[in-house]
Amino acid sequence: TYVVTENCIKCKYMDCVEVCPVDCFYEGENMLVIHPDECIDCGVCEPECPADAIKPDTEPGLEQWLQLNDEYASKWPNITAKKDAPEDAKAFDGMEGKFETYFS
Ligand code: SF4
Ligand code: F3S
Repeated sequence: TYVVTENCIKCKYMDCVEVCPVDCFYEGENMLVIHPDECIDCGVCEPECPADAIKPDTEPGLEQWLQLNDEYASKWPNITAKKDAPEDAKAFDGMEGKFETYFS
């Protein structure tokens, strides 16, 4: 599966939603997650994210994010169409420690 990681928080560009063939993105207030049981591992979304926040779970060190994607995909609503990204998205791109302050 692919997972959404920390840099999505407060960037939330949603370009990923447009390309996913199985609509497996779920929407929180400040980030999206991928449902690990629904993702077909096509990899199409990875290069589409302007914040480089989507990674294959084969990359090391992503256990925490895989767990978070799994947990919140069943709590948050499905999102199938891109909306406008936050106006201040760019200011948050690459910021450290977003999870502690802004995860929702
Ligand atoms: Fe959707 Fe493919 Fe990305 Fe999985 S890898 S979330 S199926 S676009
Ligand atoms: Fe987040 Fe990137 Fe999608 S910032 S909403 S994973 S395009």
